[in-house]
Amino acid sequence: MSVPQPIPYQGSKRRIARHILRFFPGEFDTLIEPFAGSAAVSLAAAHARKARRFHLNDINQPLMALWREIIHDPAGIADAYEKLWREQTGRERAFYDFVRDRFNATQRPDYFLYLLARCVKASVRYNAQGEFNQSPDNRRKGRQPESMRRDIEAASRLLRGTAALTSRDYGAVLGGASPGDLVYMDPPYQGVSGFKDPRYYSGVDFDRFAGELARLNERGVPFLLSYDGHKAGSRYGRALPAGLNLHKVEIEAGRSSQATLLGRNEITYESLYLSGALVERLGNSLVV
Ligand SMILES: C[S@@+](CC[C@H](N)C(=O)[O-])C[C@H]1O[C@@H](n2cnc3c(N)ncnc32)[C@H](O)[C@@H]1O
Repeated sequence: MSVPQPIPYQGSKRRIARHILRFFPGEFDTLIEPFAGSAAVSLAAAHARKARRFHLNDINQPLMALWREIIHDPAGIADAYEKLWREQTGRERAFYDFVRDRFNATQRPDYFLYLLARCVKASVRYNAQGEFNQSPDNRRKGRQPESMRRDIEAASRLLRGTAALTSRDYGAVLGGASPGDLVYMDPPYQGVSGFKDPRYYSGVDFDRFAGELARLNERGVPFLLSYDGHKAGSRYGRALPAGLNLHKVEIEAGRSSQATLLGRNEITYESLYLSGALVERLGNSLVV
């Protein structure tokens, strides 16, 4: 059985999650994901039995409400998704717009799951009023209800009874982490939100984030961080401060789709940073 991925989500770490797990210590209390999104790393860790307890957090409240349904009422959310998916038949475009309006009025998790399954690049976009305004991908009908149900049920089995769910700013979650835990962070990429100021990326202030990492170091909380300063173009990219004493590893993320189109065989890499406390815990087992 492969790792379930019930929530389609742009920027999901699903493809490289198993490589990230290689840098987990053998024993720790709780795996904390302050920027959980579709929680690809927690799901992979639960599947590989690399973590026993989880804390999933994301500032996006409807997303965390959807996680709550997936984990605690898998049959209910799978039924609701199937109903929406079948109701769209023959009027997919108009039905998408209808569900988007209903979601903006109610924030219901089943509407959100349907929108994520059908919108362009599974990418969450909001207008200035905070309304979901992403367009549908008219070439896709959204994931088949049967396979969606399988992944929902499998994710529920992996996380029920072991995962705490919150929807807060990441800083509050980091404040509760202790040296016995392991934190995995995948903050939103720089540049993607259209902020022109390089200190910001999608609402996360760079200097404040660097300060939060320094505090984790001071408290000896081990962490891993996915961060590609160059990803959105050098105009926005900022290197992490050297004083954070992070150990960088490059993870092979497969072939770039752009290179494949051009007939080249370019392998792409993603950067992962390990904190000093984590490197110490890994000791001789850290072979890179
Ligand atoms: C790159 S995505 C994480 C993707 C995730 N690793 C996965 O596998 O799906 C970043 C997430 O950070 C969340 N986020 C943005 N600002 C945040 C904040 N201040 N506190 C907590 N979460 C935040 C976004 O809602 C988004 O889901």
